[in-house]
Amino acid sequence: MRILLVGSGGREHTLAWKLRQSAHCDALYAAPGNAGIAQLAECVPIAPKAIPELVAFATQNAIDFVVVGPESPLIAGLADALQEAGIPCFGPTRAAAQLEGSKAFAKQVLAQVNAPTAPFAVFDDPDAAQAYLRERFLDRPCVVKADGEALGKGVFVCDTLGDALDAVEFLMVERGLGEAGRRIVIEDRLHGREMSLLCLTDGHIALPMPPVRDYKRALDGDRGPNTGGMGCYTPLPDATPALIEAAMHTIVRPVIDEMARRATPYRGVLYAGLMVQEEQPYTLEFNCRFGDPEAQVLMPLLAGDLVELMVATVEGRLHETALRFSPRAAVCLVLASGGYPSEYRTGLPIEGLEQASQRTDVLIFHAGTRYEDGRLVTGGGRVLNVVGLGDTLAQARANAYSAAQQIHFEGMYYRNDIAQ
Ligand SMILES: Nc1ncnc2c1ncn2[C@@H]1O[C@H](COP(=O)(O)OP(=O)(O)O)[C@@H](O)[C@H]1O
Ligand SMILES: [Mg+2]
Repeated sequence: MRILLVGSGGREHTLAWKLRQSAHCDALYAAPGNAGIAQLAECVPIAPKAIPELVAFATQNAIDFVVVGPESPLIAGLADALQEAGIPCFGPTRAAAQLEGSKAFAKQVLAQVNAPTAPFAVFDDPDAAQAYLRERFLDRPCVVKADGEALGKGVFVCDTLGDALDAVEFLMVERGLGEAGRRIVIEDRLHGREMSLLCLTDGHIALPMPPVRDYKRALDGDRGPNTGGMGCYTPLPDATPALIEAAMHTIVRPVIDEMARRATPYRGVLYAGLMVQEEQPYTLEFNCRFGDPEAQVLMPLLAGDLVELMVATVEGRLHETALRFSPRAAVCLVLASGGYPSEYRTGLPIEGLEQASQRTDVLIFHAGTRYEDGRLVTGGGRVLNVVGLGDTLAQARANAYSAAQQIHFEGMYYRNDIAQ
C-alpha cells in the first residue's frame, strides 16, 4: 500500500516508525513531516489543514490509505473529503470528530447515554453564564471551558467565583480565544487522578489500549504554564482491569453506540480523558486522535501490524483482529526549547542524538526539528521525544533519563519527575 501520513510532530514520527514496520507499507509519504520523519518517508510541503491540496496529492500519487495525526484536519473534514475522492482515511469524519471539536457536543452525547461526567451547562450568552455561576458556584470550585478548538488553552479550572467570572469575560466578551469562546461549558470540578484511555474503534466495537498518564505543565511538580505535553508513561499501576472495564462499559461503548445510532459512526482512535474519583471513571473530554506524546509510549509497545489494525478499523472489521500490547513499560520525555510554551529561539544545533539513539531500549522521535546546511537544528517548542523502555517503569524511566542526558541544545529543558 502507498500511505500518506498527515502531520509533523513527535506523534507522527512515531506513527511513521510503526507504519514502516508493516508488511503492507510499500511507500510512505508525509505532509509535511519533520527531520526525523524524513528518514522514513518522503516529505511533501503540504500543511495538515490544506484539505484540497492533500486530496489532490493523494489522488495524483495513487495513495491507497491516509493516516491523520492531528485533530484540526479531522474536525475540518479531511476524512470526508478523502472519502468523497474514494481514498480511505484513518480518522473520524467531521461529524464524528465533533466529540473533540465541540466540548458542548461531547457533553450532550455523554448526558444522552448517562455516561459519568461532571454536571454541566452550556451557554451562548455571557450574562446568562455569569448569572449561573453566581447562583451555583458562589463558594464552590468550577471549570469553565471554551466549546471550540483551543489548542489546550481553553480550560479554566477555577477556585473562586471571581476566577470563573473572569474566565467567562475573557472567553465570551473579550473573545480571547476567538471563535472557540463563542459558546462555553461550565461544569462542576471533579477531584481525583487523571488517566488517558485511548481506544481503537470501527464504529461497532472498541478495543482499549493500556492507559497512559501525561504531564501538561511545563515544570516539575505540575508547576508552570500548560503545554502541549511534557511527557507521559504507561502502564499505570493504579489502572486496574476493573477500572478500565468500567470506563469501557459506562463511557466508551455507549458513546460509540450513540454515534452509530445518529448515523455518524465514529471510526479511528477515541481518546477518553478520564478523572478517577472514588475509583469511578468520569469523562473530562474526548480527543479524536492519538495523543502527542501518548502515541510515543503506545506504539513501541503495540504488538502486530499497525496498517492491518488501521485498515480493519476503517473497514469495520476490528472484530477480526486483536489489539495486543507488550507487558513492558514505556516512559516518554519531551525535550523542549528554553522559553516554551512562550517565546523561544529556533535554529539551535542539536548534539548527542546519535549516541543517545544507539542505546538499548531507547527510541528517539523528532518533533520540532529540521536540517539547516546539513546540520540538525531545533525548529519548534517541543523538539525531541526520548522514549525509554523497560521491564519495569523504574527501568524505562532510568533508560529515558540516561539518554536525555546525552542530548544537548542551547536552552534545552525537560521535566525531571516524569513517571516518578
Ligand atoms: N471537571 C473537571 N474537574 C477537574 N479538572 C478538570 C475538569 N475538566 C477539566 N479539568 C482539568 O483541565 C484539564 C484540561 O481539560 P480538558 O477538558 O482535558 O481540555 P483540553 O485538553 O482541551 O484543554 C484536564 O486535563 C484537567 O486537569
Ligand atoms: Mg485534555
